[in-house]
Amino acid sequence: MNRGRFIVLEGPDRVGKSTQVERLAEVLDAVATREPGGTALGAEVRALLLDHRSDGLDPRAEALLMAADRSLHVAEVVRPALAAGRHVVSDRYLFSSVAYQGAGRGLGEDRVRDLSLWAVGDLVPDLVVLLDAGDDPLTARRPGDGDRLERAGGDFFARVGASYRRQAAADPARWVVVDARADVEVVHRAVLAAVVDRLRITVERS
Ligand code: TYD
Repeated sequence: MNRGRFIVLEGPDRVGKSTQVERLAEVLDAVATREPGGTALGAEVRALLLDHRSDGLDPRAEALLMAADRSLHVAEVVRPALAAGRHVVSDRYLFSSVAYQGAGRGLGEDRVRDLSLWAVGDLVPDLVVLLDAGDDPLTARRPGDGDRLERAGGDFFARVGASYRRQAAADPARWVVVDARADVEVVHRAVLAAVVDRLRITVERS
């Protein structure tokens, strides 16, 4: 049996990632999953991480919890699905940690990447789609809104966005950048076209 393909959608908060993950997974008949929280224990880690009561969580502890969640996710969901020949579409992966903890929280992109690579036994996706909304004020975060991570404030999200663009530029064979400011359907078509083009996946319907 052929191994499935592993596709990751990345991007800042509120860029419409979850809708795009759902649409893409449906068309590819893929397993749709997400980080943090793609497993039962991971859902508990996610609740801890996003909970308002976790205010003041040390950034290193945050990075380690994200890596722990990721390790569970890869061992319990991603690798078994790929081995069974299913494609996997994940809403976020280790590139989120590089952007949010590495750049956003200032822990250092390389160290955070290494931590996550260790956590997942070096599993890297076949394709990463970056949903980029530029610096569109509609998607810019207002301090005070949202969950604990989302309330981190302005500069934080500028660093996250810059990190994503750097990661995409550093590995153009694995990354594709899609403008997420268009209509949902237009973005879906662009994501699907990128996946079909890069991975030569056959799609029965779109
Ligand atoms: P979520 O509600 O899933 O946000 P979104 O729908 O935008 O993906 O919350 C996940 C939050 O966790 C989001 O703010 C990004 C953050 N995050 C990290 O900081 N590091 C990580 O490694 C991951 C996977 C997510």
